[in-house]
Amino acid sequence: MYVCICNAVTDSQIIEAQNNGHKTMSDIRRHLGVGNCCGRCVETAKEVIRQNSGVQKYMPKVFATDILQPA
Ligand code: FES
Repeated sequence: MYVCICNAVTDSQIIEAQNNGHKTMSDIRRHLGVGNCCGRCVETAKEVIRQNSGVQKYMPKVFATDILQPA
Protein backbone atom coordinates (compact mmCIF):
# COMPACT_ATOMS: atom_id res chain seq x y z
CA MET A 1 0.00 0.00 0.00
CA TYR A 2 1.30 3.44 -0.86
CA VAL A 3 1.72 5.57 2.24
CA CYS A 4 3.45 8.55 0.66
CA ILE A 5 2.08 9.40 -2.74
CA CYS A 6 4.44 12.35 -3.27
CA ASN A 7 7.50 10.14 -2.94
CA ALA A 8 5.95 6.78 -3.98
CA VAL A 9 6.83 5.10 -0.69
CA THR A 10 4.97 1.99 0.44
CA ASP A 11 4.31 0.55 3.87
CA SER A 12 6.60 -2.37 2.96
CA GLN A 13 9.46 0.03 2.29
CA ILE A 14 8.88 1.75 5.63
CA ILE A 15 8.88 -1.59 7.45
CA GLU A 16 12.01 -2.72 5.61
CA ALA A 17 13.76 0.55 6.50
CA GLN A 18 12.68 0.19 10.12
CA ASN A 19 13.90 -3.40 10.24
CA ASN A 20 17.25 -2.23 8.81
CA GLY A 21 17.88 0.21 11.63
CA HIS A 22 15.92 3.35 10.72
CA LYS A 23 13.88 3.31 13.90
CA THR A 24 12.29 6.75 14.09
CA MET A 25 10.09 8.81 11.80
CA SER A 26 12.98 11.25 11.37
CA ASP A 27 15.33 8.45 10.32
CA ILE A 28 12.80 7.06 7.87
CA ARG A 29 12.02 10.52 6.52
CA ARG A 30 15.71 11.09 5.79
CA HIS A 31 16.12 7.60 4.31
CA LEU A 32 12.98 7.38 2.14
CA GLY A 33 11.72 10.95 1.88
CA VAL A 34 8.39 10.12 3.50
CA GLY A 35 6.60 13.31 4.48
CA ASN A 36 9.07 15.65 2.79
CA CYS A 37 6.54 17.18 0.40
CA CYS A 38 2.90 17.82 1.39
CA GLY A 39 3.16 15.98 4.72
CA ARG A 40 -0.25 14.31 4.49
CA CYS A 41 1.31 10.88 4.91
CA VAL A 42 3.11 11.55 8.18
CA GLU A 43 0.43 10.21 10.54
CA THR A 44 -0.05 7.06 8.43
CA ALA A 45 3.71 6.52 8.27
CA LYS A 46 3.93 6.91 12.06
CA GLU A 47 1.15 4.35 12.46
CA VAL A 48 3.03 1.88 10.23
CA ILE A 49 6.12 2.43 12.38
CA ARG A 50 4.11 1.97 15.59
CA GLN A 51 2.52 -1.24 14.37
CA ASN A 52 5.86 -2.65 13.20
CA SER A 53 7.53 -1.84 16.49
CA GLY A 54 4.75 -3.50 18.47
CA VAL A 55 3.83 -0.27 20.24
CA GLN A 56 0.14 0.13 20.82
CA LYS A 57 -1.61 3.43 21.13
CA TYR A 58 -1.97 4.56 24.73
CA MET A 59 -4.62 2.56 26.55
CA PRO A 60 -5.29 3.43 30.17
CA LYS A 61 -4.85 0.53 32.56
CA VAL A 62 -8.03 -0.45 34.29
CA PHE A 63 -7.64 -2.91 37.10
CA ALA A 64 -10.39 -5.28 38.08
CA THR A 65 -10.03 -4.17 41.68
CA ASP A 66 -10.86 -0.61 40.62
CA ILE A 67 -14.06 -1.81 39.03
CA LEU A 68 -15.08 -4.30 41.72
CA GLN A 69 -14.46 -2.12 44.79
CA PRO A 70 -17.58 -1.84 46.97
CA ALA A 71 -18.91 1.70 47.21
S1 FES B 1 2.07 12.14 0.60
FE1 FES B 1 3.94 12.05 1.64
S2 FES B 1 4.76 14.03 1.44
FE2 FES B 1 2.93 14.09 0.31
